[in-house]
Parts: sequence; structure tokens; C-alpha cells
Amino acid sequence: MNKAKVLVARSIFPETIARLEEHFEVESNQGDQGWSKAQLIDKLKGKQGAFTTGSERIDAEVLAACPELKICANMAVGYNNFDVDAMTARGVLATNAPDVLTETTADFGFALLMATARRITESEHFLRAGKWEKWSYDMFAGSDIHGSTLGIIGMGRIGQGIARRGALGFGMKVIYHNRSRLDPQLEAECKASYVSKQDLLKTADHIVLVVPYTPASHHTIGAAELALMKPTATLVNIARGGIVDDAALAAALRDKRIAAAGLDVFEGEPKVHPDLLQVPNVVLTPHIASATVPTRRAMADLAADNLIGFLVHDKPVTPLNPAVLASK
Ligand code: DGY
Repeated sequence: MNKAKVLVARSIFPETIARLEEHFEVESNQGDQGWSKAQLIDKLKGKQGAFTTGSERIDAEVLAACPELKICANMAVGYNNFDVDAMTARGVLATNAPDVLTETTADFGFALLMATARRITESEHFLRAGKWEKWSYDMFAGSDIHGSTLGIIGMGRIGQGIARRGALGFGMKVIYHNRSRLDPQLEAECKASYVSKQDLLKTADHIVLVVPYTPASHHTIGAAELALMKPTATLVNIARGGIVDDAALAAALRDKRIAAAGLDVFEGEPKVHPDLLQVPNVVLTPHIASATVPTRRAMADLAADNLIGFLVHDKPVTPLNPAVLASK
């Protein structure tokens, strides 16, 4: 029987490639060359499966040019690189990699919150620059985590993980805002109370954003929302670029309208808004919230499981558009 053809769009663990090769004819971008859309289309033509990482946009144009494509398996929980409606219309299955990164990403959200509130990178840069000459009472005085109010916007699995860390580990009062309210048992487990977005912005000492990116969540935080926040507040974005208006945030940080921000994701990344690079009160990391070796392995394994599950056994693990399965 002819093996299905699969494109692996970015460099990935050699073990993952070897596993895929047991089932498929694999073309992989192990050199990690940046591909334009035209190059992606060229590579995808004639392939039945794609192993994507979140950077490859799969839209109507790509789908129309690659009619043999049957599945795109994202090695990411977020899938805003997929036009899922267009994929469903073309009968192409979309899968993502949920759950396996929840705790790792929640750990990172908390780490970024701590680094931001306690001014860790800013003070390290000061020390490395040889500027530390004497102790002073207000040197890099930040804000407390323990006992403060943590506001979480987006209360999916990662948001819940951050709530548990805050409430159980640091005695924080946790408030959240979400499209829909959690059921009461889950709210009690997370020790979190539902509030309006406005109340959250006005009362939280620290705000963490964990909402998926959609047109509706574009600029969830812009100038108007920043103006509602406490001047002592910190803002952490581990969700997606575009959830925050980065230019408005840079202005708010520059003018000390809020105290500090921690950002792992950016509008137009890997480019970063130049104004953000000019303000000291922001901690910047290059989209690494899920980056531990075991978690990245688990994400790659799950994307491979989806490709094998669907193309070989007709049983994907985490389908995003199961309507495609029903219509087969
Ligand atoms: C995800 O899984 O969505 C993370 O942002 C890594 O891309």
C-alpha cells in the first residue's frame, strides 16, 4: 500500500520525524528555512498531511492550491493560524495539542508574573551593566504577589492552572473574566470569583491574559482598558500577540500609567514593537511559555498521534472540526 505523504513544516525532534517515517513518506523542513506562503503551497502540494507549529497560516488560498490535503496537525494548543471554517468547508481536518502543555504554561505564566512584579530582569540588567554601587531602600522595589488580587482574563485550562497556583500557593484573591462562567464546583476548586471585565481591570493588582486569539479578542487590552487599571498594576500576556495593543501598552508603560508588564507574545512576532524595547518596566520573552523539553516532546507526540491516528487508523486524538469526520 502506498504511504501517505506528510509535510513537517518546521524543524522538530528527529525522533518525531523517525516515528512519522514509519507510517508516511515525509518531507521535513529540518533546516528550518523560513517559507513564504507560495513556498508553503509548493511544499504542501500532493501531501495528505501537514505537521504545523502555529507559524504556518492554513487558509482558503492554501487549501484551494492543495486539494489532496486531508489533515493539518498543529503542535500548539492555539490554532489561530488555521482558518478552521475554510478547512471544514474543504473537508480538511484540523487538530491541535491541548492538555499536554497546561501545567508547564501555567508555571511559566506565574514565573513571568513574578519576574514582572519583582522587577527581576530589570534589576539583572542594572547589575550586569555594572551600575550597582550601593544598596538603597527603594532599589527595584516592586509589588507583592502574596496576598494581592490576581485577575485572570480567559479561564480555560491554563487560566485555571494559574488560578490554583495563585490561590493555593500564594494566598492570592483570584478573580476572573471569561466568555462563560465556570461551573460552581470548578470555581470553588480554583478559588476564583467571576467578575465583569471592567471590575477585573479596576481591582486586580496583577492581570494575566490567557484568552485564545479570535477577531473578537483582538485588542482585549487597549488604551481604554489600560486606563482603567491601577497605576501599581502589572499585566502579563502569555496568550497571543494581538490580544494586547502593543503600541498602547508601550505608551502606558512609558508614562507609568501601569507599573510593569510581562510579555511572551507580540503583535507581528517575531518582530517586537520598537517602543516596547525602549521601556525598562517590561519583561520580554520569545514565545516560550510551553518550552520545557518534556512538554515540547509531548506536544510533538500529540501532533504525530493525530496524523497517524487520522491518516492510518481514521481516529484522530484531538480534532477541532469533528464535522469533517462525520461527513467522511
Ligand atoms: C501554543 O501551544 O499555542 C503555544 O503558544 C505554543 O505555540
